[in-house]
Amino acid sequence: MRSLIDILDFSVKELDDLMATALDIIAHPAMYSQSCRGKKLATLFYEPSTRTRLSFEAAMYELGGEVLGFSEPNSSSAAKGESIADTARMLSCYADIIAMRHPKDGAPLVASMNASVPVINAGDGGHNHPTQTLTDLLTILREKGRLTDLTIGCCGDLKYGRTVHSLINAMSRYSGIRFVLISPDELRIPDYVREGILEKGNIPYEETDDLEASISGLDILYMTRIQRERFTDIEEYERLKNSYILTPEKLRNAKSDMSILHPLPRVNEISTAVDKDPRAAYFRQALNGKFIRMALILRLLMLAEEDPENEQRIPDEGVLINKLRCGNPRCISTVEQELDQIFLAPQGLNGSCRCLYCETEKSVRNGE
Ligand code: NCD
Repeated sequence: MRSLIDILDFSVKELDDLMATALDIIAHPAMYSQSCRGKKLATLFYEPSTRTRLSFEAAMYELGGEVLGFSEPNSSSAAKGESIADTARMLSCYADIIAMRHPKDGAPLVASMNASVPVINAGDGGHNHPTQTLTDLLTILREKGRLTDLTIGCCGDLKYGRTVHSLINAMSRYSGIRFVLISPDELRIPDYVREGILEKGNIPYEETDDLEASISGLDILYMTRIQRERFTDIEEYERLKNSYILTPEKLRNAKSDMSILHPLPRVNEISTAVDKDPRAAYFRQALNGKFIRMALILRLLMLAEEDPENEQRIPDEGVLINKLRCGNPRCISTVEQELDQIFLAPQGLNGSCRCLYCETEKSVRNGE
């Protein structure tokens, strides 16, 4: 089945089509009110969520469909030790499409490899969050009128902030995009994003820890929360939690048409005094999330009907199976012991390779 696990699963053309559908839904909501009649969406949320889960549910209801699922892993068989693969197989009997959020990197990919209905990654650990990115793209398009020729500042927890990883991945495919990555040293962007996306794609970027010095050059400021739940050292969190607090004073040097985005929830990184600034787009962004998820559900259900045999395939070049173990404690493959350990080695088998589930790099020769 065609699923959405990584934002790269959709081509730029497909992303543009999704946004066009979302804009059409905004303009003519009544035309879509019965589009998913008789269809069911399962929302499997193993991790807290307000916006993502409820916007998925609202999206399905507004398309005339039904919703089932859980928002608390302790109320599901996960609490009894059921694997992601078994849950996905079983849910395919009850639902036409699945949206899954999980605290471990790669869990929705595992679900998609075992489900016989489309699976949507609604956030996997500190890894990816492609439907937030769809929301962000629609917001940038509606706020700025374009997705090209923009300087985008990403500020806050760039290490664990999965929304930023998916956003950089998506925006790097549009022309004239430049990134300013603003974070404390400890929370810099992971290598697989810096090297695997920015450097590989020759995308201009700079890294800094100084928001005030860089704000004047930005067209978009994408603020993020310091992700407390991903820290292993709580003292480090305490030390870093107030790294950035956006206030009206700090916005004085920003462009008059800069857009301020935030995936929400916010803790204290944007002062509420900023909310009335017309540049604050984050609540409009949350509304866009419902429309783009409506477009996504429609698209995936249509693709599933057109081509039910279409499988989520693992590329067959340079694949190592059960020869190494992933060293990332947040990877689903380190938790579910029976899962095949799969590594992709794009440069052949002599250099480093990358875990299929969480993208953590590993050297093939010494296994480190
Ligand atoms: C984000 C997430 O879950 O990664 N929230 C969301 O889905 N809108 C951001 C966050 O939790 O900080």
